Amino acid sequence: MCRLLREKGPAFVGETAVTPADAARHPARSPPARFCYKPRVATPPTSGAFGPYGGRFVAETLVPALDELSAALDGIVATPAFQRELDGWLADYVGRPTPLGDASRFARTVDPTGEALGALWLKREDLCHTGAHKINNALGQVLLATKMGKRRIIAETGAGQHGVATATAAALFGLSCDVYMGAVDVARQAPNVARMELLGARVIPVETGSRTLKDAMNEALRDWVTHVDGTYYCVGSAAGPHPYPTLVAQLQRVIGVEARAQSLARGGLPDAVVACIGGGSNAIGMFGAFLGDEAVALYGVEAAGDGVDTPRHAATLTRGRVGVLHGSKSYVLCDDDGQIAEAHSISAGLDYPGVGPQHAWLKDTGRATYLVATDAEALAAVRAVARTEGILIALETAHAFARVGDVARLEAARRGRPVTVALCVSGRGDKDLSTLLAEEPHHVAS
Ligand SMILES: Cc1ncc(COP(=O)(O)O)c(C=O)c1O
Repeated sequence: MCRLLREKGPAFVGETAVTPADAARHPARSPPARFCYKPRVATPPTSGAFGPYGGRFVAETLVPALDELSAALDGIVATPAFQRELDGWLADYVGRPTPLGDASRFARTVDPTGEALGALWLKREDLCHTGAHKINNALGQVLLATKMGKRRIIAETGAGQHGVATATAAALFGLSCDVYMGAVDVARQAPNVARMELLGARVIPVETGSRTLKDAMNEALRDWVTHVDGTYYCVGSAAGPHPYPTLVAQLQRVIGVEARAQSLARGGLPDAVVACIGGGSNAIGMFGAFLGDEAVALYGVEAAGDGVDTPRHAATLTRGRVGVLHGSKSYVLCDDDGQIAEAHSISAGLDYPGVGPQHAWLKDTGRATYLVATDAEALAAVRAVARTEGILIALETAHAFARVGDVARLEAARRGRPVTVALCVSGRGDKDLSTLLAEEPHHVAS
């Protein structure tokens, strides 16, 4: 039996690995299958699956809770009454619709002649209440929790934006809230820890593993297994067991729906859409409304950390293999024994060795293209956007900005004309000040 299963006991819910079937199907990407993980309950990815990806690989205790959530997706979330109520909160509390603005000065820094990047449009999720797209999802899930009669919310967080969003929604609806956060992230995203505590949430630092997002999600799942009855687990990205990837994509879809309508109001759809990829929720929210528009190319940008040829990166789709992490099957970063590897990114929100299953399917089908940007490129993009557009973007978002020139050149070459690119500004960078000061004190001070 797998070492991790022995170590972590019955509450363990799935940190790896590659199955023999995967190894046979993807010999090039799969490690030797001598260390196979048999999940406690392996529901094959049928309902809620994206091609061969998704499904549920969880402890038996969680199956009724996930069934209850699936039923709520159809029976509550899909109803006009719920949608009306959520739309009201999104308008009056979150501040939607967010604008689709121009970034012509930044565009000239990546394409001085304008031959490739004709226009760059920014979907401003950083202007949402609490400063990132995460509130769209957290508010929707916490509202759902109230309808399901749950009084306690738990969440995991990396950058702290999902934790802040969940603490905010829990405060709004009068629910108690515990947020698991890796100890490394507690240190590097200190302003968000203070915000969560002010909002009445308890922040629980996680000291296991790499002490980042992966480990926070392990602990949140473990908490849920033991307190499943009155507790609602508010997952922060389009990852986790079914139905979370579907639910989160649905709640974030508002980003793309608005962006598409705003593009049409400007005269036409963009040629390409770009977003950064952690677990994949801002990207899937942005992509969702454009999936049927074949002329619109979709690009995700992962964190290359120190570089994808080093061990220190978080480029799961680019360098990962098929496996199981946190209850669903997707691409994962793992070692040759099939054990989940430690990811690295300067941005806590992208520092994750997994990715939502829909992105795995979009990659395999070729509908979306996934690129990478390094820590250094992200830092440079934060500075460039701040100085040309007057917007302090999150380090996560900066990865998308770092590749926008390349996206424009690829698409302009394909189409033989300058292109319009729409980029999801997933969040604002106030939370990153200490990282920015530590990395580039001379730049920030100058
Ligand atoms: C501002 C911001 N952007 C992007 C992400 C990455 O998450 P996702 O890929 O789910 O959008 C995070 C995660 O914390 C974030 O805080």
